[in-house]
Amino acid sequence: MATATPKRKNKQSPAGAQVHTGESSPLVQSTHPDKRAQQRFAKCVLSWFEEHGRKNLPWQQDVTPYRVWVSEIMLQQTQVATVIPYFLAFVDRFPTITHLAQAPLDDVLAHWSGLGYYARARNLHRCAIEVVQHHGGDMPDTLDALQALPGIGRSTAGAILSLSMGKSEPILDGNVKRVLARVYGVGGWPGQKKVLDALWVLSEAVTPKADTGKFNQAMMDIGATVCKRSKPNCEHCPVANGCYAKEQDAVGEFPGKKPKKVLPIKQTVMLVLRNSRGELFLQQRPASGIWGGLWGLPELEHEEALQDWLIVKGIKSNAVANPLSQFRHTFSHFHLDISVVELCIDQAPPSIADDGNTHWFDGQTLPGGVAAPVTKILNSLSF
Ligand code: ADE
Repeated sequence: MATATPKRKNKQSPAGAQVHTGESSPLVQSTHPDKRAQQRFAKCVLSWFEEHGRKNLPWQQDVTPYRVWVSEIMLQQTQVATVIPYFLAFVDRFPTITHLAQAPLDDVLAHWSGLGYYARARNLHRCAIEVVQHHGGDMPDTLDALQALPGIGRSTAGAILSLSMGKSEPILDGNVKRVLARVYGVGGWPGQKKVLDALWVLSEAVTPKADTGKFNQAMMDIGATVCKRSKPNCEHCPVANGCYAKEQDAVGEFPGKKPKKVLPIKQTVMLVLRNSRGELFLQQRPASGIWGGLWGLPELEHEEALQDWLIVKGIKSNAVANPLSQFRHTFSHFHLDISVVELCIDQAPPSIADDGNTHWFDGQTLPGGVAAPVTKILNSLSF
């Protein structure tokens, strides 16, 4: 990590402060750009927004707290281009919080299918129910009340308040963290509390009282389109003048990376069970646990368990198991090595439907949300 002080500090730079919170360099200098530097920073960002900021995204039309909230949740971990069609289909099917609260969870998950991180969809649904029950169907308009809802953290709450209600609240999503870490030389991984705290102090300091929505949108846009993770386009950056990381020629070092940990490896076998019509057997997973409530394939711990499984389920044991493929799916806390085995059966004995909701899928309409590795398997099959 870069620890040296800047080679040169331009008096008119929009930045005006450096903060270092890396292991080898504890907090140094001020966490606060002075008042004039804060104003210069905001001014540069706002005038950049007028010319280059995104203004035609679907959630920027017919702006409501509900639409902004849905978009913010979808945009967590997902790129704008991917989100747009999902957002449009979602608000078409669930045009208001009340529609969302009244919908079955399965329907909500089906509209999330392919976006991943399904906890977001479950929280969205729970949150809609709470808003209807406790807030008369209107998104609350304070930071505290929003943060008390499932799936809404401080940055999402700040985005809802500033983008849809014109309130002056800072945000700190991944894009904003990157811009601030670079401009102000905040070292260390933002997953560490002290780094995150330093970034919040900076975000509070530079966020203007007026035009906060535009400023916040511009900061996200600068992060996504100019101050990119790799190959940042510093020539077109409105806050490059005085940017600590640029001056140190160390843009790639900010923000600091998450320390790598060795993930444990787990194994599973997924069964592609087909009937004589070529349909595929799907079952719904229990509501809690991994992929809770999503639809998936029957699973075994290892291939040797297949014969026992066939006997228990009353499926003819001479059915031929055909290994299809093997691949790895990585979660934040473990790798899952998945072996896919295909099995064709003449008739489905009733016993395979013992484990809850089941469905024979003909390749057309899925009964609900499907986990990413199962989508991958389905895409490789022909119907
Ligand atoms: N990422 C998170 N929120 C966003 C927004 N409103 N516009 C573009 N990207 C975003």
